Amino acid sequence: MTPSLAILDFGSQYAQLIARRVREAQVYCELFPWDAPQEKILSIHPKGFILSGGPKSVYEDGAPFIQDFILKSGLPILGICYGMQALTHALGGQVDSSAHREYGPAEIQPLLSTPLLSSLSKVWMSHGDRITKMPEGFVALAKSGNSPFAAMGDFSRKYFGVQFHPEVHHTPNGIELLKHFAIDICEAKPEWTPASIIEDSVARIRQQVGSERVLAAVSGGVDSSVAAALVRKAIGDQLVAVFVDTGLLRKNEGEQVASAFREHLHSELVAVDAAEEFLGALKDVTEPEQKRRIVGEKFIRIFEQQAKQLGQPRFLAQGTIYPDVVESSAPDRNKAERIKTHHNVGGLPEDMKFELVEPLRYLFKDEVRAVGEALGLPESLVWRQPFPGPGLTVRCLGEVTRERVSRLRAADAILIEELSRAGFLGKPGSSSSSTADEQTSNAGQTVVSQAFVVLLPVRSVGVMGDQRTYQEAAAIRAVTTEDFMTADWARLPHDLLAQVANRIVNEVDGINRVVYDITSKPPATIEWE
Ligand code: XMP
Repeated sequence: MTPSLAILDFGSQYAQLIARRVREAQVYCELFPWDAPQEKILSIHPKGFILSGGPKSVYEDGAPFIQDFILKSGLPILGICYGMQALTHALGGQVDSSAHREYGPAEIQPLLSTPLLSSLSKVWMSHGDRITKMPEGFVALAKSGNSPFAAMGDFSRKYFGVQFHPEVHHTPNGIELLKHFAIDICEAKPEWTPASIIEDSVARIRQQVGSERVLAAVSGGVDSSVAAALVRKAIGDQLVAVFVDTGLLRKNEGEQVASAFREHLHSELVAVDAAEEFLGALKDVTEPEQKRRIVGEKFIRIFEQQAKQLGQPRFLAQGTIYPDVVESSAPDRNKAERIKTHHNVGGLPEDMKFELVEPLRYLFKDEVRAVGEALGLPESLVWRQPFPGPGLTVRCLGEVTRERVSRLRAADAILIEELSRAGFLGKPGSSSSSTADEQTSNAGQTVVSQAFVVLLPVRSVGVMGDQRTYQEAAAIRAVTTEDFMTADWARLPHDLLAQVANRIVNEVDGINRVVYDITSKPPATIEWE
């Protein structure tokens, strides 16, 4: 059994981040809502608990609390922010809710020397309430300007509390605290490595599917490719991977995916050329949500036909990843307004009567990438930019015709080629000097997280070789982001932008003007639609 920790989510926006950091320390953990049933939480046999922050005050009606079985388990507990206050409240200490809010960077001063805090001084605070009396058995470990008990511990029970957020980027070395808690205090061995993840998944897949066949819909994205690669490793030729070419892909995308499968996984893809069908269904449609629906439905229809032709395999492999699972079960967090209907190629309807194989269900994106690399998938596939399920329809504003899609594809290929040549694309390095939305390459260069061209249904006048032109405009979108929930526009060098614009206007028929999108997300989104 892989040693693990249970993270209890008290409603913090950072709960997933805690889990990610613990996994980075190579300790397996799962995130549970604070009130999840005991059997569910204990089913992973945790060696300790981490209690997340949360927006409530412990004295509020309906405030989340620590379930009794956790305190009775005798296992170590680390409370972060609200988690620390809940621990204090449960054990007879006092929390003051009239204190001034403390938000932003702070310095902590150690009051006792302990390895838990040894690498920390600057921390990130975000709390209203604070502890005014520690429960019996606790000693103060650190204080800050605003918090007399910025960190506290009861070494005999192995209970600890920190008022700050070790999980966020703005607490340098915060991961060291989580690592020390997980590995030294809870004694969970750091055994969660790509190799162990692969070994574990292979055994599970074999057990689930036996000698049956598994169908996989490969989109060319990271998740569906890594899921298919894992299934392939587990059951070899029992896997049938299908790739639907919608005619809405980027330049050379179909060939790249097929050759990655052939060369690196020694597996053939069943490629289905459905460009005519997709473009036919999209004729005269300009409304973005309608375009998305059409592509989604068409995809399902084509996939159904393929499944039938392949003798209706019993299992379907999907690239569902852990954030998808967490988002649908997190307390109070799945009410977010639907801004766009995200259509994932793997998102097939329930009535398709497949049993699902979801080998990435408990993995974060960075783990999926590490597994992909360990399985031998090429870097170009593993570090691929996200690409929306509905493909270039989303970036071809207005009518989606064959001519306009190829115009967009050609312009996009120029942008990607130039950014790549200038070193702005690819795998980010491990530089810690980068800010939250900015990642750098090993050479210290800012890495653009996503970059593409959008074709606008706007024509304007230009002049080329003494001739008046009246053609379409294209927008360049390039962003830096860590999680795609927020993003900043990339400060690309002007010369590079000029080179891209110049090449697009000269080499792509039908575009005579290029603009650069300088809005962040929010208020804009990354895609235009
Ligand atoms: P927005 O435009 O909402 O996009 O800021 C955030 C990220 O999601 C990608 N995206 C999609 N991915 N299916 C997907 O799998 C979709 O329908 C879809 N729409 C947007 C987008 O490219 C960006 O990375």
